[in-house]
Amino acid sequence: MSVAVIIVAAGRGRRFGGDIPKQYVPLMGTSAICLSAEAFLGIDGVTHVLAVIHDDDRDLYEQAMSGISDARLLAPVSGGDTRAQSVRQGLERLATEGIDRVLIHDAARPFVPVTVIENVIAALDETDGAFAALPVVDALWASEGSLATNPVPRDGLWRAQTPQGFRFAPILAAHRAHDGSGADDVAVAREAGLKVTLVPGSERNYKITTTADLERALIDMAASSPARG
Ligand code: CTP
Ligand code: MG
Repeated sequence: MSVAVIIVAAGRGRRFGGDIPKQYVPLMGTSAICLSAEAFLGIDGVTHVLAVIHDDDRDLYEQAMSGISDARLLAPVSGGDTRAQSVRQGLERLATEGIDRVLIHDAARPFVPVTVIENVIAALDETDGAFAALPVVDALWASEGSLATNPVPRDGLWRAQTPQGFRFAPILAAHRAHDGSGADDVAVAREAGLKVTLVPGSERNYKITTTADLERALIDMAASSPARG
């Protein structure tokens, strides 16, 4: 059984801002992309890890990953203008590798717990797709401008995370048939009619989107650092 992981890292981090894309920003001696790759390389069943990066970031990538020496880490490929196009590039690179299952993960989610990864892989015994998600717990409101209008029922609503895992052949076919606009791979899979299961995500598995998330990441890392006095 070969299980590949695609780490999508070709985004520009426009909401985050700054000089370098958020996945390469220094995080206590490491970076979000490096932590993400290491999380998956720590799982025995993972056979390939492939990053999809922007052409402008080749040097940043080499620097960020220089501490990893693992034959399962493949040379990165170039991404596209949308996240779905970046995933497609990764899938095409893996198409001739005889992959059974593929997990797709945001480089910007560096703290993905092992149990979440294992839950997604295990769920693929039963269905074509599975992804980490958390139930919505806050009340939801629609608005017009700054005025609340109507409550929106939150029953059956979920916050999607990654990894999103799939059997390889059906997700490759789904991406080949897709127009590149889907927000995530569940959207691409559902458009192609694949059955996709929800598995428990984790609050630790948040995405670094703004600088406030980076501050949170630094606080979390300082709190869990063995060097803590
Ligand atoms: N991503 C990608 N290719 C793109 C766009 C996004 O590989 N064309 C990746 C990002 O690098 C990130 C993940 O998809 O790891 C989730 O996207 P997001 O958090 O939206 O990152 P960015 O698109 O970089 O940020 P922003 O939307 O604020 O510009
Ligand atoms: Mg984006």
